[in-house]
Amino acid sequence: MAYKNLLIDIENGIALVTINRPDKLNALNIETIAELSEALGSLDKDTSVNVLIITGSGEKAFVAGADISEFTNFNPEQGKKMSADGHVKLFDKMEKMTKPVIAAVNGFALGGGLELAMSAHIRIASDNAKLGLPEVSLGVIPGYGGTQRLPQLVGKGRAAEMIFTAQMISAADAEKYGLVNRVVAQADLITTCKELAGKILKNSPTAISHAIVSLNAAFTDGVNGFHIEIEEFGKCFDSGDFKEGTAAFLEKRKPDFKGN
Ligand code: COA
Repeated sequence: MAYKNLLIDIENGIALVTINRPDKLNALNIETIAELSEALGSLDKDTSVNVLIITGSGEKAFVAGADISEFTNFNPEQGKKMSADGHVKLFDKMEKMTKPVIAAVNGFALGGGLELAMSAHIRIASDNAKLGLPEVSLGVIPGYGGTQRLPQLVGKGRAAEMIFTAQMISAADAEKYGLVNRVVAQADLITTCKELAGKILKNSPTAISHAIVSLNAAFTDGVNGFHIEIEEFGKCFDSGDFKEGTAAFLEKRKPDFKGN
């Protein structure tokens, strides 16, 4: 399917998804959120894809936030709906993908942009990236998971400072905080993410999908993550990948995982 605000390039098991509104610093308008939601659904089912990389178009921005022009006149009900819809359609959906999602943070990741990066499983940043949750400077709070996922990644104190001051932090500080896994030169960002994806692609897609469920359970209220781990561990034993992985080990050869 052709998208107005997304570019999707699939090669060697990796889908590179580029948010393509560079003149608006890739701000997430309703249309882009809908397209991303649709694209995630279809890439999750696409058997030719096992890892996703999400990035922004141009050299300046990953995503500079939700599109401010769309919500300036909202009332409380509309604001609540905007937030709830975003969670379901995009942010939670990305976190619950059955395939790893790597955010290639290539510039400003602000507001909904940082929230999008935090919904990915792994973040790699370019050295020019600036990350922040500036919502309180606009009179709102982060509404796409920022108040929850930021403290999970950096701790409550640092999250509070970032949210209350609305200030951006540098890529170097984001790495120090654990908000991104590493920082590379902008020219190397996509190659680095593809190399990381390549390491993931060597492993069992089935096992990785169970690992995602189990990891997510560590951050889901009301569920016992250890119990989920036991369940997901057990399910692996039913898979062709498990039989192949263990047989390959014993036969001293590389496994040929089919993702079943
Ligand atoms: N929503 C809508 N449009 C946005 C946007 C957003 N979140 N972020 C940037 N844009 C638009 C600008 O309005 C501008 O459009 P225009 O050329 O039609 O006027 C264009 O993108 C370029 O942005 P500009 O502000 O001119 O670039 P800059 O280099 O001077 O500043 C930022 C870059 C990121 C510091 C600045 O754009 C900014 O503060 N954006 C908003 C960040 C934010 O508050 N996000 C949270 C939203 S909840």
